[in-house]
Amino acid sequence: MHVLEWWKRAVIYEIYPRSFQDSNGDGIGDLPGILTRLDYLGELGVDALWISPIYPSPMADFGYDIADYCGIDPLFGTMADFDRILEEVHRRGLRLILDFVPNHTSDQHPWFLESRSSRENPKRDWYIWRDRPNNWTSNFGGSGWEYDEATGQYYYHSFLKEQPDLNWRNPAVVQAMFNVLRFWLRKWVDGFRVDVMWLMIKDDKFRDNPPNPGYVPGTPSNHRLLPVYNSNRPEVHKIVAEMRGVIDEFCDRVLIGEIYLPIPQLMSYYGKDLEGANLPFNFQLLQCPWTAAAVSGAIRDYYHALPKGAWPNWVLGNHDQPRIASRVGKLQARVAAMLLFTLPGTLTMYYGEEIGMTNVPIAPEEVQDPAEKNEPGIGQGRDPERTPMCWDRGPLAGFTTGAPWLPLGEEHSAVNVAAEREDRHSMLQLYGKLIALRKAHPALVSGELHAIQVEQNVLRYRRSGAEEIEVILNMTHEQKTVPAPQGIVLEGTHVDREGEAVDGQMVLRSAEGAVVLLA
Ligand code: GLC
Ligand code: CA
Repeated sequence: MHVLEWWKRAVIYEIYPRSFQDSNGDGIGDLPGILTRLDYLGELGVDALWISPIYPSPMADFGYDIADYCGIDPLFGTMADFDRILEEVHRRGLRLILDFVPNHTSDQHPWFLESRSSRENPKRDWYIWRDRPNNWTSNFGGSGWEYDEATGQYYYHSFLKEQPDLNWRNPAVVQAMFNVLRFWLRKWVDGFRVDVMWLMIKDDKFRDNPPNPGYVPGTPSNHRLLPVYNSNRPEVHKIVAEMRGVIDEFCDRVLIGEIYLPIPQLMSYYGKDLEGANLPFNFQLLQCPWTAAAVSGAIRDYYHALPKGAWPNWVLGNHDQPRIASRVGKLQARVAAMLLFTLPGTLTMYYGEEIGMTNVPIAPEEVQDPAEKNEPGIGQGRDPERTPMCWDRGPLAGFTTGAPWLPLGEEHSAVNVAAEREDRHSMLQLYGKLIALRKAHPALVSGELHAIQVEQNVLRYRRSGAEEIEVILNMTHEQKTVPAPQGIVLEGTHVDREGEAVDGQMVLRSAEGAVVLLA
């Protein structure tokens, strides 16, 4: 039998390292902290960890502003700590994926310090310098161009001015960055999640972006223009294919791309003849309204648009998006988990989701995220979904012994790993069971997805491989009587349902879901 590559079967768990586990009482999570939690992750049953940036950084964008691609920031630990984690991850049969940030460096990266030192410097052209700015804006608000007094030119930054964009048209940049990949791949890192993959290369003529006729006042100022000339340029696909080539110099690795684009454009990142990213992240579930009609539509549109041979993937949360339990509510978050773990392909979840963590309200004086500081009060802030992981009932939730860098929120005495381990109705136990279910029933990973149906705001679909499985999800808060196939309930959002024989019809309670193995 053909065995699927590890990443095709994987449940990927994203760790935001500042917020996972602190080991030295400075209130910020670190690598030695992560090391102490690997057993937990092994028990949960996830297959791979994706750790957001841990490289040396001035932390203007909390690590997405990198000053050295081949080091570890002392805040997080040492290279020895990293090597130890990698070894321990592999010893447990898990995989490790790192974040790769190719679009921009920190303004403190030696490359940029050189580049800005004079117009004649050999690294001048490693960044994007112009005599005059065009109208391109920064994703964090304001102009994307920053004037440099000393050399009398402007440089472009898609994000903060502390994050100058690299010039991917320069072959020396391409080679330097590919060597960064090789550095980690030689250590046997199992793959990369590539930051803002669709932004990597810009129009060579620097044409102005057109106005966005659909701009709604009060939304981020960056939406005033359509990002026609500074994102998703046709040349990006050549770079992605070359990047994939570097990954494929090594065996058994994966290339994942962060891409926020509509489905047809997203699909183009699999590349011609699948020479692009192995997995262009699919953010459909993060963006779609929580109704059976909308979710079924998103699933269908995505699944049917997949190029031949392309492997699907689904994401329920990440460090830039509101937590699922806040977005759809605590009860529907259980339904969302059942949805995620019964969809085909590779799955990505975000730390804390498995205990039902919600967004923590952040008072104005507690704000850390530059996105919120630059454009306050319009929901740009990402601090609420980045608060510390809650491990136990203690006053600091077992996260730290010092002052946590972001508040813990009010729920942590109930919403934490220790409490939920003891409660069979907890979110943690549901996640554990759903992950185990997926391992026990390969049809859930690679079986065909079909018979997607919606009726009374109840979503239903089948997964067929060696077995035939039907998933039925009540996306309302009312009781629903719905048709059911003849079979046995393998797993329910409500534990009392497990093992129940069904035939013909089923009464689903509010926000109840069931996975039925057909007889
Ligand atoms: C990506 C990251 C986000 C970061 C931005 C700039 O979208 O996920 O957290 O702020 O890129 O690197
Ligand atoms: Ca620490």
